[in-house]
Amino acid sequence: MNKSFFITGTDTGVGKTFVATGLIRALKTKGVDVCPMKPAETGCRVNKGRLIPEDMIKLIKASGVDEPIDLINPYRMRNPLAPSVAAEIEGIIIKKKSILDAYKKLSKKHDMIIAEGAGGIMVPLYKRYLFLDLIRELDLPLLIIARPGLGTINHSLLTIEAAQKKGIKILGLIFNHVEKTKADPAQKTNPEVIAFTGKVPVIGIIPHMSHNNKKAEKIFNEISSKILSSRTN
Ligand SMILES: Nc1ncnc2c1ncn2[C@@H]1O[C@H](COP(=O)(O)OP(=O)(O)OP(=O)(O)O)[C@@H](O)[C@H]1O
Ligand SMILES: [Mg+2]
Repeated sequence: MNKSFFITGTDTGVGKTFVATGLIRALKTKGVDVCPMKPAETGCRVNKGRLIPEDMIKLIKASGVDEPIDLINPYRMRNPLAPSVAAEIEGIIIKKKSILDAYKKLSKKHDMIIAEGAGGIMVPLYKRYLFLDLIRELDLPLLIIARPGLGTINHSLLTIEAAQKKGIKILGLIFNHVEKTKADPAQKTNPEVIAFTGKVPVIGIIPHMSHNNKKAEKIFNEISSKILSSRTN
């Protein structure tokens, strides 16, 4: 069975890459041959005329894969904009076929592909073709990373509803404390409200922490076990 999944967020900067790299490391220690993919990365730094995709580099480092960059990261753009907009400015033509073909090649070689979007699921890749459409065509279930605090009920339920309308399966939600905030009452009650209203499981709550501490290892180990069992049952 295909164990791959797509990581999205309710917004940009919610911790998709942080969670993806944590999960990749944990899955590797469980013996899973996991390969990351970032179909399009914008906001790339330029170094000696080359575009540097920071997210993709973190994902490669966590996984240790040695795949051609154009396969795991078919599109790189400089402008920190939605891929459709950045591509137009930079004269790049994004074709879904390149992404679908790259995914197919990678999934033949690896046990599991973890693909990270750019921003949320309603972000356009080109013209009116959204990440949502790509996820549907890749036929991947969705892991949603959400903020824990006030406002997340609306963002999370909108993401869940938009995905389900397209027939995308939702693996679950992870609430990630991307910022160090004081505990507020909303953070305590939001996961339960979203799980109840959206009828999707909460797979984990990740505190604000550094990647290298033991606590992080334990949490990602637990979350990755839950994901693996839901992908093999
Ligand atoms: N639980 C956490 N504890 C500490 N730092 C975190 C945590 N989650 C995320 N961060 C940090 O917050 C920043 C944003 O996270 P990240 O880059 O993973 O977000 P993203 O959703 O992938 O963003 P983008 O939309 O740009 O791809 C990063 O510097 C990351 O290391
Ligand atoms: Mg990212």
